Amino acid sequence: PEITFVQPDGRRVKLAVRAGDSAMLAALRSQVRGIIGECGGSMACATCHVYVDDAWLGRIAPVSPAEDEMLGATAAPRRANSRLACQIEMSDSLDGIVLEVAEAQL
Ligand code: FES
Repeated sequence: PEITFVQPDGRRVKLAVRAGDSAMLAALRSQVRGIIGECGGSMACATCHVYVDDAWLGRIAPVSPAEDEMLGATAAPRRANSRLACQIEMSDSLDGIVLEVAEAQL
């Protein structure tokens, strides 16, 4: 599957990723600017905050209570489409997903 990351300045980068990887890991591997993933995906840092394009929101597993708590502690404002990229597991059904990188992570 592919992911498009959109930077706060509008620049876009499209990556081919492995099914089963999180969007956070895929971003780190390709050094996508603005995705830090400090805690390695254990929902303890909120430095992988992204805004999910509305077309894809309903296809991702719902926000768990732990993710919801971390989304309350993001550096950039939380929006209705805020998610932690480490909790987005890539699969063919998410092929083409568009994720906007939050403007601040720390
Ligand atoms: Fe730390 Fe996602 S990588 S919460």
